[in-house]
This record gives sequence, structure tokens and C-alpha cells, in this order.
Amino acid sequence: MTVASLEFIARLPKAELHLHIEGSLEPDLLLELAEKHKIDLLYKTIEEVEAAYQFDSLQSFLDLYYMGAGVLIDEQDFYDLMWRYLCRCREENIVHTEIMFDPQTHTGRGILFDVVINGFTRALEDARQQWGQSSSLIMCFLRHLPESEALLTLAQGLAHKDKILSVGLDSSEVGHPPEKFQKVFSLAKEAGFSRVAHAGEEGPVQYIHSAISLLDVQRIDHGVRCVDDPALVENLKKNRMPLTMCPLSNVRLCVFDQMREHPILKLLDEGLCVTVNSDDPSYFGGYLNENYLALAKALSMTESQAVQLARNSFEASFLDDTRKQLFLSKIDASALFV
Ligand code: ADE
Ligand code: ZN
Repeated sequence: MTVASLEFIARLPKAELHLHIEGSLEPDLLLELAEKHKIDLLYKTIEEVEAAYQFDSLQSFLDLYYMGAGVLIDEQDFYDLMWRYLCRCREENIVHTEIMFDPQTHTGRGILFDVVINGFTRALEDARQQWGQSSSLIMCFLRHLPESEALLTLAQGLAHKDKILSVGLDSSEVGHPPEKFQKVFSLAKEAGFSRVAHAGEEGPVQYIHSAISLLDVQRIDHGVRCVDDPALVENLKKNRMPLTMCPLSNVRLCVFDQMREHPILKLLDEGLCVTVNSDDPSYFGGYLNENYLALAKALSMTESQAVQLARNSFEASFLDDTRKQLFLSKIDASALFV
């Protein structure tokens, strides 16, 4: 039962299914874009930015996250943001990624939907051509805004249906239950989008139930509060309903005081389809491999648990079965060299 090392983790082919592209905006690009667009930020140096990233709740993080996204103005900015993350995927052996973006964070500031989506998809296409990067986009609705605005966003997304695979639900969870977005999720399903939603991150376990029963989601983002309901855990296990968990995020946002309290490995060993993800890596201190490594350090994650987490990441993806099998066989090949 060897504890997984960084070398082992790095060699594993992985999928990332819960990554907010706006949350991958690194301090250096933030400052560079602020200067480019003559935007006055609260901070002037990388050290000042990093010092500001201390959070005591989801909302305390979201306030800075939305402020940071304000430096993204033209198509090239969205391209550069996406391109940097895709280069990180290549470095970390993230062979498939399903990337969340928040159109309302940009359209609400007067940036055209087309500017956002065109910048992103141009970078995705370049990465696909240059090293075969596999990817898709998840368009998230901001749950602190009314459903009427999500419906407008869905209409904008429909004009780019060929570029967007799924819809999601994110932002301030408590007080904004899944039922608020039933209509837009139902229309999205009719239009052929797959569906995910943040639930049970800071909000109660009931939100996990209602995301599944009322929004008909195929994955739950976070879902750590499922531990409050043993019958739900049993159901999630039986149905192999994926939970895309984000260990570093949960500790940085005080969902858990310490990494050793995180339930992910316990749920994995019980047979749930949990996966590891980075959420907003530039704000939470690490990309995907760092999240796996944090589990090895705090919870003695073994090599076989790391392999199972990576296998789950492909099983939980929206890839077709043939491509899932192809990636799963790559895991088997990489694990042979242990
Ligand atoms: N938007 C970006 N990161 C988020 C998170 N962890 N929870 C909810 N909304 C988010
Ligand atoms: Zn998230």
C-alpha cells in the first residue's frame, strides 16, 4: 500500500471535470491585463494579490473572483486565459478536461457573449491541433441572479450550441436552491445539453437531492455534504452518480478546517464515483496534481486509490464510451510501470 508520490500522480492520465476557467486567472496575467486596459486594481504586485487571497467563506472568495474577472475585456484576453490553462493540462497529463465558464460575469459588464466564446474556442482548437487536447465547455448560470437572466444566457448559448456541451450552476449557494433554476435546466435538457450543478458545497444536503430530482443533473459538483445523509450516500453509490470534489478549494473556503477531515477517500473506498478537481486553482493554491498530492500528504492516499480516482474521472466525463475506454486503457498502461 504505497502512498502516491507526485511522480506517480503526474504520470497518471487524468480528466478534470470541475475547473472554472475564470478561477485559473493567475496574478501575473491579472496585473498584465489590468495594465493593458488601464484598470485600477486594489493591488499592484503579485505579492499583494497573493496576500489578498485569504478566505473565510465561499462569498469572500467570489467577491475577489468577480473583481479579478473584470480585467478580461477583448477576445485575446479570453484566448490567453484559456491557453494558459490548456498548457497546464499538457504539463499535468490532464488528457481530457470539461471546463466551466460564467458568461454572465462578462455579459453583465457589457462584454459580448461572442467575444468570450470565440476567444475560448480558438484556444481549445489550437490545443486540439497542437497536441490532441481533448476538451469541452460547460456554460454555468450564476445562481445569485434571477432565473430570467439564466434564460437569456441559455438563448445566447444556443446560438453556439456546437461549441458548448453542458450547462452548470455555480456562485453563491446558500439561499439559492436548485429549484430556482428548474425551468432553465428543463429547457437546456430539451435542447440537448448535458447538466451539472454545484450542490452541497456550503449549502445543505437537501440541495443535492433537489439538483438530482428537479434539475436532472448527471453530475454533482462538490457534493461533500452528502455525508449528512447515509441513505443519499447509498443512492449515489448505487447509481454511480459522480461527485466532482475539490479538496484544496474546500479547505481554503473553510468547508473543512483541515484536509484530513475531507471525506473523499472514505467515499471512494465505499464505492462512490468521486473525482478530484482543482475548482479555481489560482485562488486555492494548486492545479490538479497538487490536489491529488494534498490527499496523499494529509490522508495517505495510496497509488491504487489515485488510480481509482483517475479512472472515475473518465467514467464521470461526458465522453462517449469508446473514448472513455481509450483513456482508461492509457491508465492501465501507465500504472504498469509502477
Ligand atoms: N464559482 C467559482 N468557483 C466556485 C465555487 N467553488 N462554488 C461556487 N461557485 C463558484
Ligand atoms: Zn466550482
